Amino acid sequence: MIVRSDSAERTRELGHVLGSVVGPGAVIVLVGELGAGKTTFTQGLGGALGVREPVTSPTFVVAREHRGERGDLVHVDAYRVHSLQEWDDLDLDHEHGVFVVEWGDRVISALPEDHLTVAFAEAGDARILEFTAHGPTSGEVLAAFEAAA
Ligand SMILES: Nc1ncnc2c1ncn2[C@@H]1O[C@H](COP(=O)(O)OP(=O)(O)OP(=O)(O)O)[C@@H](O)[C@H]1O
Ligand SMILES: [Mg+2]
Repeated sequence: MIVRSDSAERTRELGHVLGSVVGPGAVIVLVGELGAGKTTFTQGLGGALGVREPVTSPTFVVAREHRGERGDLVHVDAYRVHSLQEWDDLDLDHEHGVFVVEWGDRVISALPEDHLTVAFAEAGDARILEFTAHGPTSGEVLAAFEAAA
């Protein structure tokens, strides 16, 4: 599915829609250049899970876990992860919350096969978001997202 977003607010809203249809254990891989909108999207997703604290880029800490009223958000930024060994050493748990990985393409071979990819491309002031499911669970999530978006 391809969606055009004309504002950061709209990108946040799309994240919110996804956050309202995902369950624990879902793995969301966010792909796109610096400033493409990955964190903005994650803010909306966290909002839908009932996360109250601000969701900001976890670039330097790599991962942050947020408790939400409707589920936990594990927000990861793989930008500074330079090897799969480094990734393994982080020992992140992608089973209990919604697991969102910015720059997830860098560690894709270490992520569960069944994941939903959101690719962000800049088009002037707008962003083009392309959603792709890889597996049955993410396929169901994508179908629910399409119905709700
Ligand atoms: N349509 C849009 N969708 C998302 N962000 C937009 C849009 N238009 C403008 N912006 C701006 O682009 C920036 C996106 O920043 P954001 O931190 O979400 O990117 P990112 O992909 O997480 O970058 P990084 O790789 O550095 O983590 C924000 O300043 C936001 O206001
Ligand atoms: Mg970011």
